[in-house]
Amino acid sequence: MAEETISSCCVSHPLRGELVVPGDKSISHRVAILGGLAAGSMRVRNYLCSADCLNTLRAMQQLGAVVGPVANAQSFSITGVAMRPRAPEKDIDCGNSGTGMRLLAGVLGALPFSSRLVGDESLSRRPMRRIITPLEQMGAHITPCGGKEGCAPLEITGGQLQPISYALPMASAQVKSAILLAGLFARGETRVLQPAVTRDHTERLLRYFGVPCAESADHLSVAVQGQACLQARDIDVPSDFSSAAFWMVAASIVPGSEVTLRGVGLNPTRTALLGVLRRMGARIEVANERGEGEPMGDITVRYTADLHGTDVLPDEVPNLIDEVPILCVAAACAQGDTTIRQASELRVKESDRISSVVHNLQAMGAVAREYEDGMQITGGAPLIGATLDSYTDHRIAMSFLVAGLRASGQTRLLRCTNIDTSYPGFEEHMHLLAR
Ligand code: S3P
Repeated sequence: MAEETISSCCVSHPLRGELVVPGDKSISHRVAILGGLAAGSMRVRNYLCSADCLNTLRAMQQLGAVVGPVANAQSFSITGVAMRPRAPEKDIDCGNSGTGMRLLAGVLGALPFSSRLVGDESLSRRPMRRIITPLEQMGAHITPCGGKEGCAPLEITGGQLQPISYALPMASAQVKSAILLAGLFARGETRVLQPAVTRDHTERLLRYFGVPCAESADHLSVAVQGQACLQARDIDVPSDFSSAAFWMVAASIVPGSEVTLRGVGLNPTRTALLGVLRRMGARIEVANERGEGEPMGDITVRYTADLHGTDVLPDEVPNLIDEVPILCVAAACAQGDTTIRQASELRVKESDRISSVVHNLQAMGAVAREYEDGMQITGGAPLIGATLDSYTDHRIAMSFLVAGLRASGQTRLLRCTNIDTSYPGFEEHMHLLAR
């Protein structure tokens, strides 16, 4: 069990400065997988060299992709297998990453050999039936053989797949992407219907690599043509909006702060937090919008003394799902109620994020109420430093270290080692801004 403890303290002076947060986690996983499948070589810059994304890169190496040494700016070359991966010689370890495991299962389900996906303790408790059901409908054989029903390790025997049209029972970009990746190998068109718009990085990257991937005008229906050929193409990964979100909230709640975050991904399926924080009164400016395929820009956030609560709309939930823990910290520092409902997916993340957030906020003296599908936070009570469990969840750890910047006394987060799965260097950045 990871034992690392990290502390943060109320800072008596503002957070100030500029940061480039690490590369986007969702995009990095997909670049490794699609670049590893493509024909030809490409250069990747600003890849997220975190434990999670390095595991996915290693998985693609096990399938035959050739990865050059990682240079400055997290840059390397990758030469893909032109849609003909080889059988891995040993288990593929996805570590802590649900994205890695679910997306790789989509690829492995289409390949004519057996393989085994394994993960850490947290990943081995997360639901995999959601990908097994559609992939088996396409013709893959996947046996979940973990201690918990429907959980990893996954034993996969792939083969020639049939295309399907599949209506997702939940709004999940991981499940959508697993099906689209399997669909790349099927004969004909594979279509996914989603109940709400979810992050569309897979679709954008497929088009970037030359594969037709059509969407309906409302983005709820996505189709990919099978037997596709991806053409390798150099790519710059934008910085991760989800990582930038910690400093957006930190700057909003620590008096006198002003922080600029450069080159942050601004894909509209990821940035619902911007609208919600602005509705709460946050002072956020976006400048220098640029980028091909994936938009990016610079975000400046200044402290505001008068944040107020808001209701998060159901349609906003999938587009800020990873930011809910840090949004709840902002809510605890705002006047009035903030309500987040129809968010039960939070219960099956790296931890049960509804219960982890509510429990930790209460431990800091905040008023927080748990619902089966969300939470309500009544802001305004002063936060008190406390010793908290991160539940080995990177986003819980970072969110409550930020809360500690505003709380009186010291805040200690136990079992923090997983911060590296999405944000290597988080602690250094915290010290840099709080200097
Ligand atoms: C992700 C999708 C989301 C998100 C996760 C990354 C992705 O999960 O929470 O951190 O990269 O596709 P779900 O697809 O389970 O909603």
